[in-house]
This record gives sequence, structure tokens and C-alpha cells, in this order.
Amino acid sequence: MTAVGIDAMEIWTGKLKLDLAETFAPAQGDDPGKYTKGLGLRASSFPDVYEDIVTMGANAAHRLMERKGLTPEDIGRIDVATESAFDNSKPVSTYIAGCLEQVYDENFHHANKGERKFACISGTQSLDDAYNWIRAGRNRGRAALVIATDTALYARDDPGEATQGAGAVAMLVDEDPNLVELSTEQGYGSADETDFLKPNQQFPSVDGKRSVNVYLARMREALEDFAEVAGDIHPGDYEMIPFHTPFPGMVRKAAALGYRHIIRGTDVGDLMAEEIGRQPMRSDFETDDEFHAAIKEYTDALTETERYQDWYANSIEPTLEISREVGNWYTGSVHIARAAGLKHARENGLDLDEARLLVASYGSGAQAEVHAETVVPGWEEEIGALDIDEQVRNRYDLSFAEYEQVHDVHNHETETDVEEFTAPENEFAFDGWGRMGERKYRYVE
Ligand code: HMG
Repeated sequence: MTAVGIDAMEIWTGKLKLDLAETFAPAQGDDPGKYTKGLGLRASSFPDVYEDIVTMGANAAHRLMERKGLTPEDIGRIDVATESAFDNSKPVSTYIAGCLEQVYDENFHHANKGERKFACISGTQSLDDAYNWIRAGRNRGRAALVIATDTALYARDDPGEATQGAGAVAMLVDEDPNLVELSTEQGYGSADETDFLKPNQQFPSVDGKRSVNVYLARMREALEDFAEVAGDIHPGDYEMIPFHTPFPGMVRKAAALGYRHIIRGTDVGDLMAEEIGRQPMRSDFETDDEFHAAIKEYTDALTETERYQDWYANSIEPTLEISREVGNWYTGSVHIARAAGLKHARENGLDLDEARLLVASYGSGAQAEVHAETVVPGWEEEIGALDIDEQVRNRYDLSFAEYEQVHDVHNHETETDVEEFTAPENEFAFDGWGRMGERKYRYVE
């Protein structure tokens, strides 16, 4: 069977930065440690006044097409995953195709375009759609462009405000990929939940503490479901595990749960039992509360072991390096986690040819999905082409008063006129409104 997967990717961050320790924490009267250590975030990316989900997505896609020497004729499908859409009918992919058509001689009239919605997991679902389209032989030799783009803003003073972010990831899905091959096997954990939602409103209604538990519950189900189809998982099977990362502290919890789960019945589980005892079983306790207290105690002991900490340092920590600087990108979040892990491997001379990744996606509402990926030769060159460090470094550092203005600019319910903080150059920029309320864009040389 021909390999299908991600051939190349590009990342585009919003051009502004909110420093959480230096700028946000003092304004909130909080200890910076809550953000840097507790949530694990140093900064958030924000869109400048001329940026939005279309410009960021189109800029990432344009850069990808240029780097790979592609023209619209090479692309048969454009799928956009977002939960920040501004139109209930016209998909963001049409806007992005319209932008790209400004800079290419050909058009995308032949391409199937859509928009996927299921909170943060829709980025991964769009990859699935592209994968299935190619596997079904409907692609006529063309590749799919999958774009995950979001302005992940919360209402001011919402506890989620510290986890905001904005950026886009463009991925080219094709046969014989140069980055990762996707596994056929997938595991799901899906339930009707009201942990985080946007019922016809721009900013989410969030039950923050509950959302953390829902994430963990669905992730456990997805891992179990994946093991049913792919066989038992051993911690040594996967070089890295990129998780959906709303903030790194969430992944700290998810990784402990995942590790607890995957060492059961393995040699690692036996060694761990010698060190800290066997994992608590529900049947050994009379009440759920007693069981949960025992699980918490066991997990605390587990995460203190050298064996766990080594595994975490190698398999999880590298995947968090971009997220710490940019915050939650919703649909793009798990995809920047994969990129961060591969980037770390490249920078540290690790040989990942044929190595396996376990990719753990999540979307509120709620669904988790787990699948495996095989890193393919060529990955180093692809990852080496990313300039995300430079983009992150070049962001304009907002003062708190400027942050408040920018938040208002992007709030659909306020009308604020603020000068741009950075100057667009060789990129798409928002250019005002059309006669039917549509957004207009132009390419700025
Ligand atoms: P909060 O309640 O303000 O924070 O917001 P907290 O008091 O729970 O503190 C956070 C952590 O910092 C805690 O660590 C504190 O102990 C620690 P934990 O106990 O959890 O390990 N802490 C400190 N550490 C060091 N020094 C200090 C200090 N002070 C405190 N001085 C909350 C947390 C998650 C509720 C909030 O950020 C929120 O509502 N976020 C939005 C929802 C969210 O991200 N949920 C995550 C799971 S759902 C998901 O991932 C889906 C999502 O991406 C959306 C989608 O799918 O579309 C959100």
C-alpha cells in the first residue's frame, strides 16, 4: 500500500506577543509562576489588526506552496479546520483560495473546498479527510492542502485568557510523503459534553476545571480504543507523543495518565511495581472517592520516578517547546506539538528515520483521537525549512494597554480603530469589508 501522510508543513504565528510573566501576571495581580510553571506558558501570540484566520492560513499555505514549487494545479482539495470562523455559510477555504489566486496565474476552481468543525480536533479530522480522499483514489494525482487556523481568544477576565493564542499550520497531504506517514489504525473517545462551547458567540463559554477532566477521560478512552485495533502499546514503541496542547500543564496531566495506562502488563509496569507498588484497582476500594485518592497518590509517586521523568523528558517535553511561546492555537495545537518534537530531534541530531510517533488529538465537546505516525526519511529537510523561531522572536511585544486594545479590535462586538503595530510585508492582509459584509484581502508586497 502506498504511504500517505504529511509531505510538508508551514507554521505562521500571529505577529504580536503578550508576555505572560512580564506583562499579563502583574496586571492581573498574579504570581508569574502560575503561568510559567503551573500552565507552562511563557507568552501568547496575537494577531495584529490586519491579521485574522484567513491571512494567517493563506500566508502559511502560500509559503508552503512556494517552498514546494507547487501551483494551484497540484492541489485538488483545500480543507480548513477552525473554530474561529466568521461566516456560517461561506467556508474560510474559499477566502484562502481567493487570496492565493491573487498571487498565482492559475485558479483553484477544480479543487474541493470545505471547513471542518469539531473544536480543536478538527485539524486532525481534516487530515483524515485528506488521507481518505487519497486512499479512495479520488485525488487524480493531486495533493490536499489542510490548514488549521485559529484566533483562540477568550473573553477578558475569563480564566482561559492566559491560554490564548493565534496562528495557522498548513500541511500538504500526499502520497509518498517526506515528513510522516499516517497509520490506518485510529482510536476514539467521544461523548456529548458541555465543557467548552461557543453557542453562536465569538468567545467560548468554558467550564475550565471540568474541561481538564473531560480531556483526560476522552483521552483514556481513545488510548484504549487505539490499543484494541493496533495492539498493546509499550512506552518504548513511540519516540515522541505530541498531544493537543491547550497549555503544557494540561499535557503534564495527560502524559501521566497515558503512561500509567500504557505500562500496564509490560516489563516497565513490573519494574515500576517494584519501585512504587502496583497500580490501584477499582475492585480494591469500596468507594469511587477512595479509588480516586489512591490513583492520585500512585500518579504522584509515578511522576517522581527517574524512569518516568526520563520518558517525559524525551517523549513529551520536546513537543511543548513551541506551544510555551505561542499559547493555544486550537486546531493547530497538536500539529505544532508534532513540529516542535521533530524540530527538537533535528536540532539535537536524533535519528528519527522510521521512528514512530503517537499523536493524541482532542477537541472539546468532546472527542479524543489517537493514531500512529512513522517519520520518513526527508523529515529533517522539511523541518529544517521552518522559520518559527525567527517568527516568534520577531513578534511585537505588547504592553498591557496595547493588549487590551488588540483584544477589542478582534472582538466582533466592539468597534475600535487602532493603528497596526507591525508592517505587513510579502503577505496577505485584511483590507476592509465588501458590500455583502464579506471580508476583503490584499497581498502586500
Ligand atoms: P485557573 O483556574 O485560573 O488556574 O485556570 P489554576 O488555579 O488551576 O492554576 C493553574 C495551575 O497553576 C495549577 O496547576 C496550579 O496549581 C498552578 P495544577 O494543580 O492544575 O497542576 N499554580 C502555580 N504553579 C506555580 N506557581 C504558582 C502557581 N499558582 C497556580 N504561583 C484553567 C486553569 C485550565 C481552568 C484555565 O486556564 C482555563 O479555563 N482554560 C481554558 C480551558 C482549557 O484550556 N482547558 C483544557 C482542556 S480542554 C481543551 O484542551 C480544549 C480546548 O483547547 C478547546 C477546544 O477543543 O476547542 C480548550
